[in-house]
Amino acid sequence: MNEQDTSTTQPIRFVGKRQQGGGYGKPPGRSDDFLTQVEPGTPCGEFMRRYWHPVGVSSKVTTDPARVRILGENLILFRDGQGKAGLLHEHCAHRGTSLYYGKVENEGIRCCYHGWLFAVDGSCVEQPCEPGGGQHRDKCRQPWYPVQERYGLVFAYMGPLDAMPPLPQYDVLEDLGADEELQQEDKSFYIGGGVSQDKPVAPYSWLQNFENVMDPFHVVILHSRFSGVQFREQMAAMPAVEWEQCDHGVMYRSVRQTKEGTLTRITQTLLPNVRIVPSIELAPGQGREVAWLVPVDSHHHRTFGVARVLKSEDPLYSRRSRMAVFEGKTWWEMTEDEHKRFPGDYEAQSTQGSIPAHSDEHLATSDKGLVMLRRMLARQIRVVQEGGTPEGAGQDGAMVSVKAGNFFE
Ligand code: FES
Ligand SMILES: [Fe+2]
Repeated sequence: MNEQDTSTTQPIRFVGKRQQGGGYGKPPGRSDDFLTQVEPGTPCGEFMRRYWHPVGVSSKVTTDPARVRILGENLILFRDGQGKAGLLHEHCAHRGTSLYYGKVENEGIRCCYHGWLFAVDGSCVEQPCEPGGGQHRDKCRQPWYPVQERYGLVFAYMGPLDAMPPLPQYDVLEDLGADEELQQEDKSFYIGGGVSQDKPVAPYSWLQNFENVMDPFHVVILHSRFSGVQFREQMAAMPAVEWEQCDHGVMYRSVRQTKEGTLTRITQTLLPNVRIVPSIELAPGQGREVAWLVPVDSHHHRTFGVARVLKSEDPLYSRRSRMAVFEGKTWWEMTEDEHKRFPGDYEAQSTQGSIPAHSDEHLATSDKGLVMLRRMLARQIRVVQEGGTPEGAGQDGAMVSVKAGNFFE
């Protein structure tokens, strides 16, 4: 091609013009599907399906069928008349009516359309319109997932049954004293979350919330210096930070000098989506809340948390002193203008996009934890692709010893 060729069949080349520094010609950003897509059959979706995920708070799972969407699948969560929790695909195996409109009975849930009755394990117990109540009903099984209840949450396993791991236990949630209890939350978030009782779903990928856990420097800027102290004033000091791989996750140690002495704060992630952040009120000792950032689908997530608390304390999740307050208002009470003056986790994370354009990022030294997390995730997704068991999805994840905490010396 000679220099004068202006053929319209040639691709437009922006190189050079971009170097002038303008925004003109920037190629569209791309997100990393490998790490963010969680629907069935995707690499990360298959990886996610090797672990247990909370899908509801036990006390809220009743004989009233509830819709839940997890990993891009529409499901119905209910408790049968015998007290067993069940999680079934939403659409009836007969002809697709939603079991949301079903009726829960002693033995399971009955579809409103032709009355097929499904047990919590999906087996079809009755087909009232069929001869003999359904002589071939054993040929039909409603797609279902195993559930187990622990710590006041209902956990589901949505992967291949022959790869089902033990449901993990966490030392910090075990062996409660007589004066202690566990409190559960299905919309646990630090600053805001954009979620409410009716809308527990945050409109962006689980991954940006997970990455935020390994980002100790946003605590200094976003939560301490940018618009005032959101947690505790000690967090405004720039910490010395070290990250390391720990068990089946990444954790960091941030060290600050405070008036109470040297504070070492350890924050922990565990595959695939567990967050253990020590007390933001800087209560000393081991972190006492475990939370799960559960993908609703690739573009939405919700957060379940369990905290070990003293019965004599104010309930943790509604404690006003634990919330960031701006001019007397909590996140939920602020106007949009006040959110602009006092942005928190929700504003920072949700505006990265429902999935960020990863190709547009400029990662820096302070992002080391996030990079470690992404690399670990990618490695373990590949393990699943190659037919193996990812870290933490076997006996190695059965009992977790929590390292996170605030330690003063
Ligand atoms: S569609 Fe459910 S019983 Fe017919
Ligand atoms: Fe934060």
